[in-house]
Amino acid sequence: MPAPVSAPVSAPTPDAASGTAFTPRIFSGIQPSGGLTLGNYLGAIRRFVTMQDQGGFAQTLYCMVDMHAITVWQDPDALRRNTRELAAGYLAAGLDPARSILFNQSRVPEHAQLAWVFNCVARMGWMGRMTQWKDKAGKNAEAASLGLFAYPALMAADILLYHATHVPVGEDQKQHLELTRDVAAKFNHDYGVDFFPVTEPVIEGTATRVMSLRDGTKKMSKSDPSDASRINLTDDADTIARKIRKARTDPEPLPSDYAGLRDRPEARNLVNIYAALSDQGTDQVMRTHGGSQFGAFKPALAELAVETLAPISAEMARLMQDPAEIDRTLAAGALRARDIAAPILERTYDIVGMLR
Ligand code: TYM
Repeated sequence: MPAPVSAPVSAPTPDAASGTAFTPRIFSGIQPSGGLTLGNYLGAIRRFVTMQDQGGFAQTLYCMVDMHAITVWQDPDALRRNTRELAAGYLAAGLDPARSILFNQSRVPEHAQLAWVFNCVARMGWMGRMTQWKDKAGKNAEAASLGLFAYPALMAADILLYHATHVPVGEDQKQHLELTRDVAAKFNHDYGVDFFPVTEPVIEGTATRVMSLRDGTKKMSKSDPSDASRINLTDDADTIARKIRKARTDPEPLPSDYAGLRDRPEARNLVNIYAALSDQGTDQVMRTHGGSQFGAFKPALAELAVETLAPISAEMARLMQDPAEIDRTLAAGALRARDIAAPILERTYDIVGMLR
């Protein structure tokens, strides 16, 4: 449940029924900076679909954050293609433009406008502590873009522009969401208002951190140089089966309970993926597969992965044949997003003291 917040100065639609001052509303986003991985699917997209389907939220907004993507170099044609492919992934996985608002970030200029205000609220020290900044900028921070440094303020703007109360993400985004809460709290405090909600991260399930198939201590990532480290949503059945067969493991059979996987990150990762794909708890997976050798467990996992992903990748390929239709869907989504965003930005400017 959202953290209790007192009545905002101007919430769009205060929601007494839910016991919170803010309308329950979901926002989340994915960068179109490469292909989608199984990590994106299990950690994010599949949960976007569940939250859309379960109802109870006034709106579910799912964004392709193209402005975040360009914080590191993107080839323009690749960015266009990746944005459409991400939209195709959303649609193929079950997001429905009639029920969710699907759009790319740059089509809603209010994101950049609110991000500027937040650049002036957030502190340099907060940004410098972000582990993603440290990882991505590495030792050569001098050469990193200013946008990469300010990235979390834009992310706070994405969320708070809609007064989103819930944000489904994978574990790696936790720190950014804490910063979003800090931005909201500091803005409210500095201006003496209760305008922005303190957003609730939704990090749940067995797949909040899907790990690399080559190294169980590293996150599965679209930017890993080794393609064998990840399953891409566009991989065909043979490729998926081969990658799982070759996934790094250890020589021991699976233990009889999940606790026995504590010091076996690669084995634990495969069990977590199995549990997520089959919608079972990890204990249930251990009851069925405890004692199995990987020679038996890996083909079962591969079969499950192919069964889940093949229809999605086939639908993505079909949708990608009509890019104009994808563009129309995103343009229509952006109009709906702006209807919510524009009054919140106006009110923000007013609170800050900008003449309107
Ligand atoms: P991005 O594009 O890196 O990842 C998109 C979503 O996928 C999740 N994810 C994973 N989950 C589990 N295991 C993995 N290996 C894995 N890899 C990625 C991420 O946690 C994320 O939920 N900063 C964000 C994009 C963003 C955003 C936002 C998210 C911009 N504005 C506002 C939420 C709300 C990012 O880079 O995600």
